[in-house]
Amino acid sequence: MKIIVTGGAGFIGSVMVQYLVNKYPEDMIINLDKLTYAGNLENLKPVEDKPNYRFVKGDIADRKFIFELFETEKPDVIINFAAESHVDRSVEHPEEFVRTNVMGTTTLLDACKAYGIKRYHQVSTDEVYGDLPLDRPDLFFTETTPLHASSPYSASKASADMFVMAYHRTFGIPVTISRCSNNYGQYQFPEKLIPLMISRALADEQLPVYGDGANVRDWLHVEDHCQAIDLIVRNGREGEIYNIGGHNERTNLQVVKTILAALDKPESLIKYVKDRPGHDRRYAIDPEKLTKELGWKPQYNFDTGIRQTIEWYLDNKSWWERIISGEYQNYFKEMYKDRVTD
Ligand code: NAD
Ligand code: DAU
Repeated sequence: MKIIVTGGAGFIGSVMVQYLVNKYPEDMIINLDKLTYAGNLENLKPVEDKPNYRFVKGDIADRKFIFELFETEKPDVIINFAAESHVDRSVEHPEEFVRTNVMGTTTLLDACKAYGIKRYHQVSTDEVYGDLPLDRPDLFFTETTPLHASSPYSASKASADMFVMAYHRTFGIPVTISRCSNNYGQYQFPEKLIPLMISRALADEQLPVYGDGANVRDWLHVEDHCQAIDLIVRNGREGEIYNIGGHNERTNLQVVKTILAALDKPESLIKYVKDRPGHDRRYAIDPEKLTKELGWKPQYNFDTGIRQTIEWYLDNKSWWERIISGEYQNYFKEMYKDRVTD
């Protein structure tokens, strides 16, 4: 099979590409990425010389480029990870989220319609369901929970999901969608909670916790996410949505304190700062459909996963130090200017 993975130089996409290249030497894996601030070819070092791997630089919203790529490559499968993925950036600049997440997705779907495809898989998120109240731990997102996006990011992802389902019903494109909870693990860009807190704690800098720190996220290790997507792409039913999550709910404060304890740093580094506008309170996935139908089981729980992740950031300091010493400095100053003093 020839598989195009879009966004394969980002956090989850690069773990997916490595997984596919190593597990299926008979398949050809093409990594298509625009290399935005979040794309990093260093993430692909372990597979860059493999005969079944190739990188192509390009934009999923560039119709001419995408159609030419389909014409020459004739892919069997598309797995679409490419996106603007950071909620805080979407609050500042929603337009790029519409362009890549919505227009990029419809451009890929149009190419699938024009050239044919065996499977189009959309990597979506639990954020399309909105949030759950903190005082109802009995509630979970299922695949039939209504879409109720809160941020420009989640609105763009929900919109993309609706186009995917519309192209399935109207044009018969063989699609699947997965909606996963918060990921963590190797190669995550240090704008997101866990790598941001690890890198700042190691430098003895303030750790900006939004609001009261009681917001809950349901954490899944990136490798478990990728394994689930592989199962869905190969064995999932066309036109179906699958939630992915491992029942690992933690408050943000619990996550930050776990990191501080593991690094032997004081809790006095925690600084409560102005909340994110529209901040979702709780995410929690019910993964029963995926578990029952496809037999998926995560390998990590939060305790084993966070230990592996912290070790990876300790062993790969040069990877994230290079990132945070560049343009990231301006990003951090701008995003946290009213929040953090150091
Ligand atoms: P990321 O920001 O780390 O990576 C995104 C990648 O997409 C980058 O390599 C970037 O260069 C590329 N890209 C951006 N715009 C592009 C364009 N127009 N054309 C081609 N490439 C482009 O994101 P991530 O955290 O790895 O998330 C990947 C996908 O998974 C996203 O669709 C996101 O919505 C979804 N998701 C993420 C999480 C999470 O916790 N990170 C959870 C559930 C779902
Ligand atoms: O749920 C899946 C989603 O998880 C994905 O679709 C998104 O692409 C991904 O970015 C992630 O979204 P979140 O907004 O949940 O992730 P983030 O790491 O930005 O924030 C996690 C929680 O931590 C959230 O409640 C906000 C809080 N936070 C975050 C940062 C960056 C802080 O308290 N301080 C911070 O500095």
